Amino acid sequence: MRADQSRDTIKGGVSKDLRHDSAIKHVTGRADYCDDIPEPIGTLHAYLGLSTRAHAMIRDLDLTAVRAAPGVVDVLTARDIPGVNDVSPTGRDDEPIFATEKVEFWGQPMFAVIAETRDAARRAAKLVQVDYEDLPHALDVKTAQEAGTGYVTPPLTLKRGAAVDAMEQARHRIKGQMAVGGQDHLYLEGHIAFAIPGEDDDVVVHSSTQHPSEAQHMVAHVLGVPSNAVTINVRRMGGGFGGKETQMNLFCAVAAVAAKKLNRAVKLRPDRDDDMTATGKRHDFVIDYEVGFDDDGVIQAVTGDFAARCGFSSDLSGPVTDRALFHADNAYYYPNVLLNSHPLKTNTVSNTAFRGFGGPQGVIAAERMIEEIAYHRGVDSLEIRKRNFYGENGRDVTPYHQTVEDNIAPRIVAELEHTADYQARRRAVLDWNAKGGIIRKGIALTPVKFGISFTATWYNQAGALLHIYSDGSIHLNHGGTEMGQGLNTKIAQVVADALQVDFDKIKITKTTTEKVPNTSATAASSGSDLNGMAALDAAMQIKQRLIDFAAQHWKTDAENVRFVANAVQIGDETIPFADFIRAAYLARIHLSAAGFYKTPKIHWNRDTGKGRPFYYYAYGAACSEVSVDTLTGEYRVERTDILHDVGRSLNPILDKGQVEGAFIQGMGWLTTEELWWDKQGQLRTHAPSTYKIPLASDRPREFNVAFATWSENRENTIKRSKAVGEPPFMLGISVFEALSHAVASVANYKTCPRLDAPATPERVLMAVERLRG
Ligand code: MTE
Ligand code: HPA
Ligand code: MOS
Repeated sequence: MRADQSRDTIKGGVSKDLRHDSAIKHVTGRADYCDDIPEPIGTLHAYLGLSTRAHAMIRDLDLTAVRAAPGVVDVLTARDIPGVNDVSPTGRDDEPIFATEKVEFWGQPMFAVIAETRDAARRAAKLVQVDYEDLPHALDVKTAQEAGTGYVTPPLTLKRGAAVDAMEQARHRIKGQMAVGGQDHLYLEGHIAFAIPGEDDDVVVHSSTQHPSEAQHMVAHVLGVPSNAVTINVRRMGGGFGGKETQMNLFCAVAAVAAKKLNRAVKLRPDRDDDMTATGKRHDFVIDYEVGFDDDGVIQAVTGDFAARCGFSSDLSGPVTDRALFHADNAYYYPNVLLNSHPLKTNTVSNTAFRGFGGPQGVIAAERMIEEIAYHRGVDSLEIRKRNFYGENGRDVTPYHQTVEDNIAPRIVAELEHTADYQARRRAVLDWNAKGGIIRKGIALTPVKFGISFTATWYNQAGALLHIYSDGSIHLNHGGTEMGQGLNTKIAQVVADALQVDFDKIKITKTTTEKVPNTSATAASSGSDLNGMAALDAAMQIKQRLIDFAAQHWKTDAENVRFVANAVQIGDETIPFADFIRAAYLARIHLSAAGFYKTPKIHWNRDTGKGRPFYYYAYGAACSEVSVDTLTGEYRVERTDILHDVGRSLNPILDKGQVEGAFIQGMGWLTTEELWWDKQGQLRTHAPSTYKIPLASDRPREFNVAFATWSENRENTIKRSKAVGEPPFMLGISVFEALSHAVASVANYKTCPRLDAPATPERVLMAVERLRG
């Protein structure tokens, strides 16, 4: 054996702290994004023409000046669409690519300019003359309810027990309302699609999408061709965060229509302002809740109405608002419960998936009710949490009738309470505030329980394709997409482990609809759960063939064939992996396999509101301490401690990055990220200049992130790991509640401050004034 193969363990197996496979390329600028792909000669550039009304009939769309502008090759409208003018991901046919008779939000695409340069296309798009006839518009939840705009998709009800009766009989009842803001994804790489026409019906589209298969089916639908004519390729995204689950479909479709019509490559890349204006965001909600509880603060009944601003079309608002209800219990048992979703139509951009997918809006309502009870009873909110956790003997059934079998929230919270020194620090906060100074402090420890699986059960399937070439090098492909989360790294680790080869022997290749068909979005945090299992299936198929081959060729029992680090041991003989593969090739062993996986045990009946939508739950808890300047409302996060559950981590350092990033993104959602539309319905926060995401300097001054290393998934997931992408997002709620605690100090903790989100310094200051007055 060669020297480098004498190690007895491989480089980069599972559970190893392996850095992201593209980390160096990311920081040196050598990672290829869609816009880095060399353009064929003759490439054209598209730019969208957007509406400047929130709701209006289009009396006339005069494109004369646009067509006459320098460099313009063509202008596309709905008439140029050979198939169907719709990119609704759910087949509801409510999302035109180009508006025809009327526009339903400010920023809605009406046409696309195709020009020799992007700059020419962009300038020309501005020259349109539109004659609008204004219609009344409803921009937010309140006006939509008043105007009766209706729902974009059927609402959901979850119920268990007799909530109304139990509420009446409860010793104490609190009714309240909470407004929770939306959020822009602010991925670093914006939307982009680059279409290259082929012969016959064919077209290849390079794009930055989380859902290549859906983009493929959409482009086919729009072109009026079968799906087999369309190929979608994604090497990586510069972030998606849910914003590229469906929103890329329109860009792919426009680029493809133009490319086929003109028989030239066409690229479409909006600038940041248009990207923010014309693509969907996190749903903002207005939540009406009522909670009944006893003297100890134990919940007896909960009712909740979750009204969401969905925008002009359904997009993913159905599953998003469903998930808000699925998480409205967070980690708490509600003996009697009635929850309703209200997916409201508004004249705003159609809201979409965003990390947590409605879950955060549900969880924050649960935490608000806990807070209400705590201030009412004059008891620390952590104590109220503990009294209401899911438990045993009947206290383990969710509002959707799934039994919580893996509840580790109490243990996670108890451990974090200890490691974060919560009790002593809380006393110190109370002592500090008792001095009555201008700077007030607050502390909160909040848990999260997050259900893992797509609630659309059929989405929980995945495929992978694995080739071993005759030199022993390995080509890995799977249906998931890489958006920075490290999915490719984790899946390569799984394959490296299965075949016992070094990680760097495995080439991770771009996601393409040509290799793995009918994939699901890389979403719902289940990228590695699903694709990891599919890749493992493929690896095990090839491995079994290799074992059979070795047993036959070396005339021994299969038990005597062992895959060791970069080699195969057959009896006493150790053969380097590459030599062994060469021998297998010469013996005509099939060295390629397609793997498949579908999540077991899950089912969900939306009509009855009963089932087991989630395979398992991921848990975590965060403790945050803040300081608030009560004269200005400004604040900072002094310290955050997190204890998070990723089961048996596939890659702890990547998981840590996910937890840190998700927490910060969750904190941004609840603190500084405020979306603001003017009365005409124009988004005014359409660039980083007016929309404030957290800076490096906004991170907690002290930030301790640890894993519950004792946890393993009780279900048979990939290496007993747990999904990590979304659950820690909700740990940001600890900051929000710590701010609330600091504010409450100005009225001696007698009143729940009822902060709305985001708790911008302005809102914090207003809450301080309100509580003082
Ligand atoms: N991390 C990075 N760096 N970039 C992203 O776009 N998206 C998040 C999360 N973490 C995202 C991310 C979202 S919304 C989801 S659903 C998961 O990653 C998707 O990837 P996974 O299923 O492989 O965890
Ligand atoms: N989560 C994320 N994305 C989705 C889901 C979900 O549950 N369903 C459809 N797309
Ligand atoms: Mo994530 S919101 O499920 O893409």
